[in-house]
Amino acid sequence: MSEKMGFWKASCSVLLVCFFVGLCSLYQCSAAEADANQTENLIVNASSGRPIPETLFGIFFEEINHAGAGGIWAELVSNRGFEAGGQNTPSNIAPWSVIGDQSSLTVSTDRSSCFDRNKVALRMHVLCDSEGNNICPAGGVGIYNPGFWGMNIEQGKTYKVVIYVRSPGSINVSVSLTSSDGSQILATANIVDSDVSNWTKKEVLLEAKGTNPKSRLQLTTSRKGVIWFDQVSAMPLDTYKGHGFQKELIEMLEDIKPQFIRFPGGCFVEGEWLRNAFRWKESIGPWEERPGHFGDVWMYWTDDGLGYFEFLQLSEDLGARPIWVFNNGISHRDEVDTTTVSPFVQEAIDGLEFARGASDSKWGSVRAAMGHPEPFDLKYVAVGNEDCRKKNYRGNYLEFYDAIKRAYPDIKIISNCDGSSHSLDHPADYYDFHIYTSASHLFSMTHQFDHTPRSGPKAFVSEYAVTGKDAGTGSLLAALAEAGFLIGLEKNSDIVEMASYAPLFVNANDRRWNPDAIVFNSSMHYGTPSYWVQKFFRESSGATLLDARLQTNSSSLVASAITWTSSVDGETYLKIKVVNFGNRQVSLKVSVDGLGLNSLLSGSTKTVLTSSNVMDENSFTDPNKVAPDLSLLENADRDMNIMLSPYSLTSLELLTESNNIRMPQTNSSARPSI
Ligand code: AHR
Repeated sequence: MSEKMGFWKASCSVLLVCFFVGLCSLYQCSAAEADANQTENLIVNASSGRPIPETLFGIFFEEINHAGAGGIWAELVSNRGFEAGGQNTPSNIAPWSVIGDQSSLTVSTDRSSCFDRNKVALRMHVLCDSEGNNICPAGGVGIYNPGFWGMNIEQGKTYKVVIYVRSPGSINVSVSLTSSDGSQILATANIVDSDVSNWTKKEVLLEAKGTNPKSRLQLTTSRKGVIWFDQVSAMPLDTYKGHGFQKELIEMLEDIKPQFIRFPGGCFVEGEWLRNAFRWKESIGPWEERPGHFGDVWMYWTDDGLGYFEFLQLSEDLGARPIWVFNNGISHRDEVDTTTVSPFVQEAIDGLEFARGASDSKWGSVRAAMGHPEPFDLKYVAVGNEDCRKKNYRGNYLEFYDAIKRAYPDIKIISNCDGSSHSLDHPADYYDFHIYTSASHLFSMTHQFDHTPRSGPKAFVSEYAVTGKDAGTGSLLAALAEAGFLIGLEKNSDIVEMASYAPLFVNANDRRWNPDAIVFNSSMHYGTPSYWVQKFFRESSGATLLDARLQTNSSSLVASAITWTSSVDGETYLKIKVVNFGNRQVSLKVSVDGLGLNSLLSGSTKTVLTSSNVMDENSFTDPNKVAPDLSLLENADRDMNIMLSPYSLTSLELLTESNNIRMPQTNSSARPSI
């Protein structure tokens, strides 16, 4: 080969390489553009569908993170009976503290209470007086309770304070709501009595003249003598339906229309040790008589004002089915042998009688005496929590199962053993399924139940959430993964009949578990993005699931469609939800087939949950940073193009109508809101 030829050959090769490289990069470039602008298709067939169970989406309330005591239960006093320090006296009275020094008073505990199940009372020996040589400081001496990291006292609101008191002499005690250092008095009243030689119940109503979210309750006196106090309670008069629940927090629940409430745990039901597990019998009856207990899993004391009765009442007030989780003789660290579990079985049977028995039955009469003669609608129970692998679980479970089915054949029983991958070796109506995992894993679990056997018990996904670094204390990323998972549950709702996010609440002062759906402190609250996702699904229970098919190569998209009839306006809506779990904007062509010939879509809306950064979270200072954004869907039609933001959940709510054409601007009042 000549040099010349060699040169040309070499040059040609270079040129060819350049040509192909150029072609390739051109191709890659246009491919990338096509990818960015590619239109995906979603085809919804609105002509037929199948019913989603009425029960599908509910809530799981656990006494964790001070969700109940210092949370939804409106009691402001923490350790109201002085029992938190234990039954041996003298004991720690925290968080109560003393006003005055040792020259003016001494405070201790003894076991002189009039209440048999909680004998500890506080003894206050006042050494100073209003006259003589040991004059009390201005304002007197005494004790104060800061509640749960401060009491939220609001101007114009009235608070009922109840105190049990005893003294050999006459008393003059000021009951005050004050700022955290006592300098600002928000409300005060005096309890004056010349004879409280026997334990006496005193009640005062305090109307607040100011607002302070970090207030405290003070009991002070300037009279020398000895006074015992016990069972000190302060409650706002204005509670949810007058039943003792903190209004604003329960309204957050009302807003997501839960179909059931699983309660009271979780690990709270099990206890680290059985001796510290929640026992329903200790949580009923007059609040003054409840002993309270130390929950040794989440490591805090509860006075148990929020007890079994109150959970049943809350379920009724929210129109949600109660699901009672009871201890099955198993805790994290100890177990009752099946041969000796029958007293535990009896305890559960008694609990069912308490909820459902006639008002003249042994336990039904206790419920009636608490103000609820009619039975509660309790139809679901779970035998323990996360105990499937424990040695005695199966044996104990069967004892409970047989006894409950004998006494209450209609009650549905939930097993702790996961029946999604293999059949259970024991009878059950439902099996529990819990999942806490990364965002990408939970999103991929949209298909988790696609191949689960359709025979056998139904699935109850009673705890799910993204946890760990993907979730932080409540990120958009976590919420979107959960939305993807929930779309999978909707599609598999022939086998998955119930699902609830966990945990529901966190008092920001006691974050035992992250993330949670609703964050609060004494005066503020907000929903995390996971909470807002729940709201997108609130119409699904009892709705009709339509066939919704995505034509896409992307694994970042999932979608579902339902129709439902609004109880507010009686209109029928078509709701399409799409999660874009990818970092690119997606153009989605939505086609709705199968609406009657005259049907049109108008008055329709689009709601989007997204944010500029997928790790964005809400906070007290920016509570709506990641919140649903509702707008009119101007181009609503049977065929329409929708732009899906990167990392977003989009819901289209399409008002279907068969007669008149209504423009999107009209009928706005009847539109569903998010
Ligand atoms: O939801 C928090 C805890 O997670 C629950 O107590 C328990 O059931 C699970 O392990």
